Order: sequence, then C-alpha cells, then structure tokens
Amino acid sequence: MGIELLGPGEQERMRAAGRCAAETLAAVTARVRAGMTTAAIDRLVRADTAARGGVPAQLGYQGFPAAVCTSVNEVVCHGIPGRRMLRDGDIVNVDVTTRLGGYHGDTSRMVCVGAVSAEARHVVDVAERCLAAGIAAVRPGGRLGDVGAAIVDVAHAHGCGVVRDYGGHGIGRSMHMDPHVSHVGGAGKGVRLRPGMAFTIEPMITLGSPRTRLLDDGWTVVTADGRWTAQAEHTVLVTPEGVEVLTG
Ligand code: MF3
Ligand code: CO
Ligand code: CO
Repeated sequence: MGIELLGPGEQERMRAAGRCAAETLAAVTARVRAGMTTAAIDRLVRADTAARGGVPAQLGYQGFPAAVCTSVNEVVCHGIPGRRMLRDGDIVNVDVTTRLGGYHGDTSRMVCVGAVSAEARHVVDVAERCLAAGIAAVRPGGRLGDVGAAIVDVAHAHGCGVVRDYGGHGIGRSMHMDPHVSHVGGAGKGVRLRPGMAFTIEPMITLGSPRTRLLDDGWTVVTADGRWTAQAEHTVLVTPEGVEVLTG
C-alpha cells in the first residue's frame, strides 16, 4: 500500500482527533494514583473519550479487549487493563487512541506512581527525550530513517536500549496504516517524508536488553530480561515547514 497524503480538510480532522486523544490522556493520567487498578484507568478513558464525542479506537481492535493500553514496569506495550493494582514506585504507560470524525489520534505517556527509583525515573526521562529527538528529525524532504537514527543516538548515549520488534505507524482514517516507523532506522534511509504524511513516533526504551517476549494472553509484550521499560508517543504531521505535533 502507498502512503496517503492528507489534504487540508483531512489535516483539520486529524488535528481535532489528535487534540481529543491528548486531552483524554492528560485528564486520565492526572488521576492515576497508587491503589488504583489498571481497570480503573480503562473506565476513566471510556468515560472521558465519550464525553468529548470520540470513540476509543483500541477497543475491539483485532480483538483487543479494552479501551486503552496500560503497560506497567516490565511491560513494553499493549498491556491489558485489569486487576493489577498500581503501587508506589511503579511506572505505567497509558496509551490512548481516539477516533473522532473518522480520523485518529494516538498518544501515550508514562506516569510515575508516587516515589520511583532513580533507575525508573531515568528510563522514563530517556523515553521522553527519545520521542522529542525523533520529532525533531522530521522534515519534508528528509527520510523516515532519520527519525529512528535520532532516537537510537539519544537512547544509547544514556545507556538504554531501543525495542525493534514494534514501531510507530502511519495513521489517518485507520489507527494503523503504512508506513511502519522504525525507532532504530538508519539516517538517510527509508521513505522520503512529504507534507501531508501523518504517523506516530512511539519509542519503547529499555534499561536492559531491548529483546521482548509476548505473554500467553496474546497481547502483553514484556522485556525478555524482565527489566523495566518506558514509552512515549505522539501523532505527527509533516508540514511544508517541518513538523506539527497533533497530540501535543
Ligand atoms: N495505541 C497502540 C499504538 O500505539 C495500539 C495498540 S493496538 C491495541 O499503536 F489493540 F493493543 F490496542
Ligand atoms: Co501508535
Ligand atoms: Co498508541
């Protein structure tokens, strides 16, 4: 499949969807506390998304059983909300994807629950810096591989690993579209970036090995070595001038 270029009207809808997802993520993460289950986060996302007129796009996606991904500590991504209770010292990624007006916004961030270890704080900080570096590498005429190259440089400079088994993705009328966005890609390689392209950047950063393992539930991705991991995600649009963060 080719990569779609969004026209002005579609870009406006992507802005609205991105804003909606970002507002839900902000509202929900502000309420995360020790003693709360990840299922409670799911309930908050359903209510907040509905209140804004959106639909949680992850619910039922390829059979995913919840409205949000909640990935705690050693969980890399796609954690299923449930009875797991958040404890002081945990780090949790909350990943919100909202459909609004036929278009999608996809964004995630980490929450540090109470007082977390220096190591946990480190991997969260590095994930945020990697996302910022990836976004800063987006420019029309550049290459998609520049994004991953920027991310891997920051991660390695801070002693962290970058997950290769999962990446970002094109986004628009569907949550997941072409292209695949590698977080380790080579500078100057890959698809040429053009105004009107929309995709996510969502680096998964590890304290130890970046190798992953899929749990028997068919969704939950954990680090192979059990060490902690962090992720941050934005939906971005390539513009004639550079880049616009749609979920900022
Ligand atoms: N929001 C996730 C992403 O960033 C999508 C996970 S698919 C799901 O791509 F089915 F697990 F929700
Ligand atoms: Co995504
Ligand atoms: Co996401």
